[in-house]
Amino acid sequence: LCIDAAEIAGLAEMLLEARRIYLLGVGTTYYVALLGQYLLASVADLDVVALSSDEFRHLDKSDAHSLVLAISQSGETYDTLMSLRHAKARGAKTAAIVNVMGSSIARLVDRVILQRSGPEVCVVSTKAALVQMVLLARVAIEVGTRRGDRHAHVQNWLFLGRGIYYPIALEAALKMKEVTYIHAEGMPGGFLKHGTLSLVDDKLYTLVFVPPPQTTDLHAMTLSCCGGAPAYAVANPQATDLHTMTLSSVEEVKARGGFVFGLTVNGADEIFDECVTLAAHHEFTAPFLPLVAAQLLAYFTATALRRNVDKPRSLAKSVTVA
Ligand code: G6P
Repeated sequence: LCIDAAEIAGLAEMLLEARRIYLLGVGTTYYVALLGQYLLASVADLDVVALSSDEFRHLDKSDAHSLVLAISQSGETYDTLMSLRHAKARGAKTAAIVNVMGSSIARLVDRVILQRSGPEVCVVSTKAALVQMVLLARVAIEVGTRRGDRHAHVQNWLFLGRGIYYPIALEAALKMKEVTYIHAEGMPGGFLKHGTLSLVDDKLYTLVFVPPPQTTDLHAMTLSCCGGAPAYAVANPQATDLHTMTLSSVEEVKARGGFVFGLTVNGADEIFDECVTLAAHHEFTAPFLPLVAAQLLAYFTATALRRNVDKPRSLAKSVTVA
C-alpha cells in the first residue's frame, strides 16, 4: 500500500485531538467502519462510535471538538455526503478515506486519505474494503504508538528468566536501563527467593520470559535439535521443564501482589496481568524472539519518556577508557 506515513500521521493527530469521534459508512463501508471501531478502541484506546451514514443525522451530537471520519469507495454516496455536510454545519472536523480522487467527499472534507486501490470495476466492493480496513489498522497503530507506552511510569522492573532465558533476561534489563534510565534488574527465577521476593509489591513490575511448554534445559534441547537422542529429557532425570519452573516464579510474585507481564508463546494465561504472545518457534531459536519484544518495550518506554534512544547519556559505542 503506497500510502505515505505522513498521511496516516495527519489522520492520527486529528483522532487524538478529537473529544468525540464518529466513523461513518454505508453497506460495505459501514462494516469497515464497524471494524475500525474495534481497532481504534483496542489498539488506540479511543472512544469511537461507528454509525451507518443513513442513521447519522438522527444521532449526531458533533461539535467543534468532534471528528467525523467517513469511509467511501466512490466518494459520492449520498447518505455519507449528507452526513458530512450535517457535521460540518455543526462545526465538526471531517476526514475521509476514499478511493476516487476529486470525488465530492474528497473535496468536502478537511483531510482526505486517497486509498489508491485502483478502480472498482465490479459493483460489489472487495479489494477497496480490504484496503480501507488495512488503512484503519495502520491509523490505529499510529495513534496507539503516539499515545506512548502505558508502562512508562514504572520505576522498577524485575526481568526473570530460567536456563537459557536467564542471559536473555539480563540483556533485556540492560537495554531497559541503557535507554530509559529506569531501574531494571535481571535474574534467574530461582534466585528470587533469596532476598528479592521481599521487594515485590504493586509498584515493582516483573517481566517474565516464559519458554514454550515442555522446554527442557539447553543440553537436552541441543541434543534434540541436532538430531541427537531426543529421548534425553526422559533418560536424564535431571532434565528440567523450564516452562513449569518459570510459572512457579510467576506464582511467587503474584502471591505478593506484583504485576506480572508475560512474554510467552502459548497464548495469554490468566496467571499474567498482561501478556504478549509470540509466534511459536523451535525451542532452540525460541529465546531470541522475546528478546526482540523486550528491546521494543525498552524502545517504546524510552520514546514515551522522550529519551534519545540513539545516543543514551553516559554511554559510548566503544568504551576505550579503563
Ligand atoms: C452501495 C453499494 C455497496 C457499497 C455502498 C457504499 O450500497 O452497493 O457495495 O459498499 O454503497 O458505497 P461507497 O462508495 O460509499 O463505499
